[in-house]
Amino acid sequence: MSGVNDIRSTFLDYFKSQGHEVVPSSPLVPRNDPTLMFANSGMVQFKNVFTGQEKRPYSRATTAQKCVRAGGKHNDLDNVGYTARHHTFFEMLGNFSFGDYFKEQAITHAWTLVTREFELPKDKLLVTVYSEDDEAHALWKKIAGLTDDKIIRIPTSANFWRMGDTGPCGPCSEIFYDHGDHIWGGPPGSPEEDGDRFIEIWNLVFMQYEEAAGGIRTDLPRPSIDTGMGLERVAAVLQGTHDNYNIDLFRALIGAIADLTSVPADGPMKASHRVIADHLRCSAFLIADGVLPSNEGRGYVLRRIMRRGMRHAQLLGAKEPLLHRIVPVLTREMGRAYPELVRAEALITETLKLEETRFRTTLARGLSLLDDASRDLTAGQSLKGDVAFTLYDTYGFPLDLTQDALRAREITVDVEGFDAAMQQQKAKARAAWSGSGEAATETLWYPLRDRLGATEFLGYDTEIAEGVVTALIRDNAEVQSLKAGESGFMLVNQTPFYGESGGQVGDAGVVKAPGTVVEVSDVQKKLGDVFAHSVTVKEGELKLGAAVELIVDHERRTAIRANHSATHLLHEALRLVLGDHVAQKGSLVSPDRLRFDFSHPKPISAEELREVEEIANAIVLKNEPVTTRLMSVDEAIESGARALFGEKYGDEVRVVAMGTNPAGKAYSVELCGGTHAARTGDIGLVSIVGEGAVAAGVRRLEAMTGNGARLRLNEESRLLDGLASLLKVPASEAGNRLAALIEERRKLDRELTEARKKLAMGGGGAAEEPIQEIAGAKLLARAVTGIEMKDLKSLADEAKARVGSGVVAIVGVADDGKAGVVVGVTPDLTERFDAVALVRAASEQLGGKGGGGRRDMAQAGGPDGSKAQEALDAVAAAMG
Ligand code: ALA
Repeated sequence: MSGVNDIRSTFLDYFKSQGHEVVPSSPLVPRNDPTLMFANSGMVQFKNVFTGQEKRPYSRATTAQKCVRAGGKHNDLDNVGYTARHHTFFEMLGNFSFGDYFKEQAITHAWTLVTREFELPKDKLLVTVYSEDDEAHALWKKIAGLTDDKIIRIPTSANFWRMGDTGPCGPCSEIFYDHGDHIWGGPPGSPEEDGDRFIEIWNLVFMQYEEAAGGIRTDLPRPSIDTGMGLERVAAVLQGTHDNYNIDLFRALIGAIADLTSVPADGPMKASHRVIADHLRCSAFLIADGVLPSNEGRGYVLRRIMRRGMRHAQLLGAKEPLLHRIVPVLTREMGRAYPELVRAEALITETLKLEETRFRTTLARGLSLLDDASRDLTAGQSLKGDVAFTLYDTYGFPLDLTQDALRAREITVDVEGFDAAMQQQKAKARAAWSGSGEAATETLWYPLRDRLGATEFLGYDTEIAEGVVTALIRDNAEVQSLKAGESGFMLVNQTPFYGESGGQVGDAGVVKAPGTVVEVSDVQKKLGDVFAHSVTVKEGELKLGAAVELIVDHERRTAIRANHSATHLLHEALRLVLGDHVAQKGSLVSPDRLRFDFSHPKPISAEELREVEEIANAIVLKNEPVTTRLMSVDEAIESGARALFGEKYGDEVRVVAMGTNPAGKAYSVELCGGTHAARTGDIGLVSIVGEGAVAAGVRRLEAMTGNGARLRLNEESRLLDGLASLLKVPASEAGNRLAALIEERRKLDRELTEARKKLAMGGGGAAEEPIQEIAGAKLLARAVTGIEMKDLKSLADEAKARVGSGVVAIVGVADDGKAGVVVGVTPDLTERFDAVALVRAASEQLGGKGGGGRRDMAQAGGPDGSKAQEALDAVAAAMG
């Protein structure tokens, strides 16, 4: 048993046999702690279990935890490469008791494992205890039989462990290994303790307190245990070396670097080999956990680590990007224990390659500028801050890279000058911005962006995370708190909530703190990367500076994910069916439906729509993975990614691919910052619910997915069943039956009209026609009911024909009491009588105004049907 993989499993197996749950490492980006940049020890994922806030089904656990110490309280970046034991990334083995066993059993386990399983000789071991911890002192004596000189009381804070400025903490006891007097160094607590002879291999923390902001300590509900053993250190001891970089894992990585560069591993360039091996490993694990290089927050720490490694690759004379070529060795060594490394291998390789390719274009020029500017400097002097800033701003040199480059010559950097140059540039950007005519309401956001930086988005990987409230805004002004019932905007340092962009709506959900419940109804991005959460406090008070739990509405987000992925599937299907001219013109991805606007010059047939839907659903049914990668814009376009013409993209773009086409390539590849389903099968079903034109040459498709689509289809099928049962036919016959009924009804309508007209005119017999003689002409005047107004005219026409020569006046009174009147004059009499004048006379009686038509036929109406007879009399009078 000596390889790193064996040591790891020996440790976990031992504690498993002692009733411990083997818990997987948590991701490097802590989900449950807003104050930590990265998981820096094994206990981070159990923080809330120690404090009693979170319950787990076990009270003992053991882990091999991925840790990064590069930024924040524990930061080892600057030392890596130059010492035997510093790493940016390392593994911590640990056992934990949550109020189960305490000091005695923790010491017993540790001693058993170290001496029996790892078989380390007792005389090589010594321990430290916190100066006031007599109990631990006595236990070591009793359990390990160590003599007093091997149990060293340490009076300093070195034997009191805390995760960060706040959180669970307690006194600790450390186990040291003595590498022997051939190596310089003294025991802990001695003036020579920094030497390499005595090496701490295991830290046992007796967790007893929780520290709040301001140093206030309270007791944990029950005393607990947290231990941490650096895997690389213990491997070094077990492999007979005092140098972590000589263990099997690092020899494999460094061997690969030496092969690829033909630079000996242990010669003068030793430090560069170590930096590359360490930084490559750290970068790969960070990328596998969802961190991608950027200029803010965690992404910037990653970029610094990557670039520092890349500069050392350049020092080794590598002519081509180097780091990505070591990834296969890393996955071979560590992929079994950390399968996420294997899963993300393509993403890791591409991200490293892209960063190194781009950085190399400025690296050489930056280094030559640095050479010129530092040529006359000697040890103890410092490089001007503005030079370091130019290297940062123009050549992409993180400050620590410049510091690292000058370190061998013992030249420092004027950090104050660097900061001043940075401030000056920000002031300039602000001045340029205030003249750019942005809306006045946005003026609020600029200083916030300046002060707080970008919000870190965690929502690709998690829907629940903690964050710290960095600003609260109410009525356009910053406030200290929002009380129950109040609404406003909340900013946090990091969030799982998606801010509306790329057509995808903002997330909704809740925010919680002890005694406080806050509703989030929407999230908008301000100035590109400040996430403004629209909040309403439901209970308690939301305070500036509070640590809060941010919980995205999972169901809503799941529906949004499905709709967004379906949009990509439809986009490609439209292109396949309609042609290459189909280009996205806009989209809206909401939880209940999606809308996709695209260029296409003509309507889409039902057959084409059906085909589009078929193609999209075929990919859904194949249930293929949806993958996301980061590439340069050019590479992405080359890989066939569809980008929005005229859209501004950053240097790197996120590329979302899904499905496979018959040629074996990705079915859909798009540049996209949105959140997506994990597999196409998660979409469930794509159902097109609408299609139409929105502007010249632009069509709009609307669709639904998953449960929403299913419910809608069910509803439609229920409606059809209801209709079919009313029609008393099977659903498949309902259409024919309805068409027949409509035809029948049309026929009946026609017949009814005829019958009514006949009835109104007295059954049609000429003898009964009420005809008078006025001024030598016949007048047929009649009031009718039960006739539709539109039929009055044809009634008058028929009457005219019957009369042969004369005037016809018909008043029709409708059910609501209103009246219409038609006057017709036969052609031989139109010289004498004007139908228009006559109808106006009638309409006046009916309370109406006007009337219109021609001399032979005119029509009018009025509100008062009770005056039908008066109207007819008025016609007669007007003829006379
Ligand atoms: N949490 C303790 C450490 O990191 C064990 O040293």
